[in-house]
Amino acid sequence: MSSAVLQIATGNPVKPGIAQDRRQILRGLTSSQKWLSPKYFYDKRGSELFDQICSLPEYYLTRTELKLMQAHLDEVASLVGQRAAVIEFGAGSNIKVRLLLDRLEKPAAYVPVDISPEFLLEQVDSLRGDYPDVHMQPVFADFTQPFDLPEHPVMPERNLVFFPGSTIGNFTRAGALEVLEVMAAEAKPGGALLIGVDLQKDASILRAAYNDSEGVTAQFNLNLLARLNRELGADFDLEKFRHQAIYDDEERRIEMRLLSTRRQKVSVAGVTIAFAAGEYIITEYSHKYEPEEFHALARRAGFCPRRTWIDDERLFSLQYMTVRSQG
Ligand SMILES: C[S@@+](CC[C@H](N)C(=O)[O-])C[C@H]1O[C@@H](n2cnc3c(N)ncnc32)[C@H](O)[C@@H]1O
Repeated sequence: MSSAVLQIATGNPVKPGIAQDRRQILRGLTSSQKWLSPKYFYDKRGSELFDQICSLPEYYLTRTELKLMQAHLDEVASLVGQRAAVIEFGAGSNIKVRLLLDRLEKPAAYVPVDISPEFLLEQVDSLRGDYPDVHMQPVFADFTQPFDLPEHPVMPERNLVFFPGSTIGNFTRAGALEVLEVMAAEAKPGGALLIGVDLQKDASILRAAYNDSEGVTAQFNLNLLARLNRELGADFDLEKFRHQAIYDDEERRIEMRLLSTRRQKVSVAGVTIAFAAGEYIITEYSHKYEPEEFHALARRAGFCPRRTWIDDERLFSLQYMTVRSQG
């Protein structure tokens, strides 16, 4: 870990790496249905692989969201007004926030929040020179927990939480409500949320998006096991697992799995985990919404949906909502 990483504000007590999550990881791997949180995908290699996924032809999510942003950010900017502090949850690559900062009127601050510290710093470093008037303060935190926001030299007029990429889909519907509540608390009364939400659609489009022909999503998924080997002293043989992504019609979600191709035993942090042939670990959900269903969830979390933009093919939505005033 470079010393620069240590200069990132720590919003809540997370440490780089996954060693501190040993218990949670083992709980998932010893459950009757094995599972791992998708937040463990994002070491530096995982963040880079996700970036590659975003430019794959099958991965319609990123290019459709970018098109929606190009088309509607002027309207977003007029709704947000001047001197906003942009708080980006799960920032990843800076390509989307550049579009937003370019259109907003005199943005005061940019606070990207992520659990992938090296990638986070790299992305912020490459932004600083281009936006000298925007106070940049990366926060290394797990956004599923409330975290402290840094102070800014210029008091922003309001907070705009930015949550692109349909990362909200990684949470169950109940979990998404909790994350939306954290966002409403961070945006504060008078603040707003700009969020990308993937829509329900033909399952064949979804299956292709998560089973790309170049196998990058498979590499991204399998990197999770490589990360457990590196950071938890596990001994997964990556040749004996394979990537699988299925669409669950009832739950309206993609389920990403790592499937054991044979009966085997793996040691993880000193604990032996047995796999039957064909047994799998669930590594990620990607829930798909109808716009109205997402509006209802956001209302329960304390937001007022104001605008929803959808592309002509009805693939993806960009939604703008404000925090409901209390009382
Ligand atoms: C699906 S990627 C989306 C990246 C980018 N926002 C986009 O629109 O393409 C999810 C991002 O959220 C971060 N992330 C995932 N879970 C997180 C958590 N619990 N707390 C903080 N960051 C998280 C990952 O490191 C990654 O950068």
